[in-house]
Amino acid sequence: MQSYSLLAPAKINLLLEIIGDRPDGFHELVMVLQSVELADRIDIQASDTQEIYLKCDHPEVPEDETNLAYRAAKLMFDTFPEVHANYGGVTIKIKKNIPVAAGLAGGSGNAAAVLVGINLIWKLGLTQPELQDLAAKLGSDIPFCVSGGTAIATGRGEKLASLKNLTDMWVVLAKYDNISVSTPWAYQTYRQEYNDSYISDAEGVKSRTAKVHSSPLLKAIAHKDSAEIGKQIYNDLEKVVLPQYPQVAALKAAFAAQDILGTMMSGSGPTVFALCESESKAIASEQQVRSQIRDPHLKFWITKLSSKGIQVLSSN
Ligand code: C5P
Repeated sequence: MQSYSLLAPAKINLLLEIIGDRPDGFHELVMVLQSVELADRIDIQASDTQEIYLKCDHPEVPEDETNLAYRAAKLMFDTFPEVHANYGGVTIKIKKNIPVAAGLAGGSGNAAAVLVGINLIWKLGLTQPELQDLAAKLGSDIPFCVSGGTAIATGRGEKLASLKNLTDMWVVLAKYDNISVSTPWAYQTYRQEYNDSYISDAEGVKSRTAKVHSSPLLKAIAHKDSAEIGKQIYNDLEKVVLPQYPQVAALKAAFAAQDILGTMMSGSGPTVFALCESESKAIASEQQVRSQIRDPHLKFWITKLSSKGIQVLSSN
């Protein structure tokens, strides 16, 4: 039976700006998404049943159809029923290195890897844009996870344009393993609390009057100006998540006092990341924050920015 081992990297948001409400309940976003080297490993193999069998080594990750990776396989089965009948089912094994429910698109990356893996096993020859169209049906971050690197995402988050690759910065990721934030809660709370800053057009579509923060960051990325990138990172969801989770706010404040380029919450949190110009500065800031906060629930990862999306490690 043919099998592939794939790497699915985590992502951080260098920018997450909510620029409008959508009638479908989602939000119009401008995001700058960035892959990091920290990655899950996904082994996917053709099986002689017609089923999807999913195993994950992390106790909090579901192994049924509530897992995005499972839904990705189901989407491929439903989209290509004759190929599915011909090749049979798949066995998916996920080795988690990315913290779960963290705002790092771990689940989205696993789903992207399953789309890429089934495309290979079934020899479908789908192009990256074709895979990304399928990915958009599963979730807003999944198209980005297919291609990775540095990209600007608009619409629901699924419309992508590549930016100049940033790779020469280090990142500290920090997350309390006993805090999780519901993404729908974060967006809905933002919608309620910041309703005043919206204006409605004739069709009832609401958009923000507030200033758009993306241009200085995009300029800094074009110039690969790390110091300026560190100053321009931005996330609207901090406005609702940090007041509700004071420990996360204190974690960010602790990083802000270090010799780093910048610090921000990723996605809807609760992971806080610090951008650093070198590995030694990443290690130093991690040690300082760890010794100041001293909480066994607070976990750290040191990684680097990456230019890669889903990668094939090996095939058999
Ligand atoms: O698309 P995804 O499943 O990643 O989105 C998770 C949740 O985040 C959605 O259910 C929605 O509440 C919120 N969301 C949003 N607007 C977006 C993307 C996500 O409101 N553009």
